[in-house]
Amino acid sequence: MVTATWTRRHILSLADFTPAEYNAVLQTTASFGEVLSRRTKKVPTLQARVVANLFFESSTRTRSSFELAAKRLSADILNFSPGTSSLTKGETILDTAKTFWAMGADLMVIRHREAGVPQIIAQEMDHLGAQVGVLNAGDGRHEHPSQALLDLFTLCSLLDPETPQLELLKGKKIVIVGDLLHSRVARSNLWSLRASGAEIHLAAPRTLLPPQFAEYGAKLHWQLEPALAGADFVMTLRLQQERMSQHLLPSLREYHQYFGITRDRLKLCQPEVKVLHPGPVNRGVEISSDLMDDPRLSLIPQQVTNGVAVRMALLYLMGSGKTG
Ligand code: CP
Repeated sequence: MVTATWTRRHILSLADFTPAEYNAVLQTTASFGEVLSRRTKKVPTLQARVVANLFFESSTRTRSSFELAAKRLSADILNFSPGTSSLTKGETILDTAKTFWAMGADLMVIRHREAGVPQIIAQEMDHLGAQVGVLNAGDGRHEHPSQALLDLFTLCSLLDPETPQLELLKGKKIVIVGDLLHSRVARSNLWSLRASGAEIHLAAPRTLLPPQFAEYGAKLHWQLEPALAGADFVMTLRLQQERMSQHLLPSLREYHQYFGITRDRLKLCQPEVKVLHPGPVNRGVEISSDLMDDPRLSLIPQQVTNGVAVRMALLYLMGSGKTG
């Protein structure tokens, strides 16, 4: 396991992640993947540590996989549901976080619909002198680092299951298709893919792909077919209708007609192309339903499976490593 070089207390964004940090996460994830293949899938690494899962916004995959990851590491886990918490009586988010700290939380995993909430909690913990690590589990449109890291692991471990490394993606053509405008997953993926040296292409209708995305070093496409030509991997994104305050698309049917990923469209890509989606999926909108369920083309189940090992790695590195 890698710990000696890990000095990051919080994981709030991938913007300043170094190649060494990406590779530490990838190698540690591979080790935990091996643990999860054993009959006894539990290790005592975080025994007596407390992980608080503070999800102020809905989640299936991220919340459950952080919970399972903490349990596999033998940590004690505190779950929190805003609807049945004292938030409903007027308690603030910061006071909620401080309450969990006072109970002995060592790590806080935080999701919120507003960008910046995990960072504000991390700053408050640092201000208090608390030795608490904060993990951003998705904040508004800002970032979703653990999702991008599990996407990275899914791609790199497909290319080299024994030694997944960031550098394996150098020169690979990776297309991200869909609601870039609202996507925290895409923003985190853009940092990791850029660090890998992959050739990044973004495709979406103009309303969902503003020209500023070129600043990430990506090539922008407002038509799908040129983006897909010769692609090694296609990452599809959910249309986030709950975040669309304006009428940004004529209809979901028209979106699928022009930007939906189908078997036919994948014929433009490399023969070995694979498709990813962070979930949850609008079936038949971003991706055709049959393609989503095709194990020869879809990596969606592997993404979910890898999510547990990646989150074990993150909790382990933050909970056991030297944090500055
Ligand atoms: N990918 C993702 O964040 O899914 P959940 O919203 O189900 O956690």
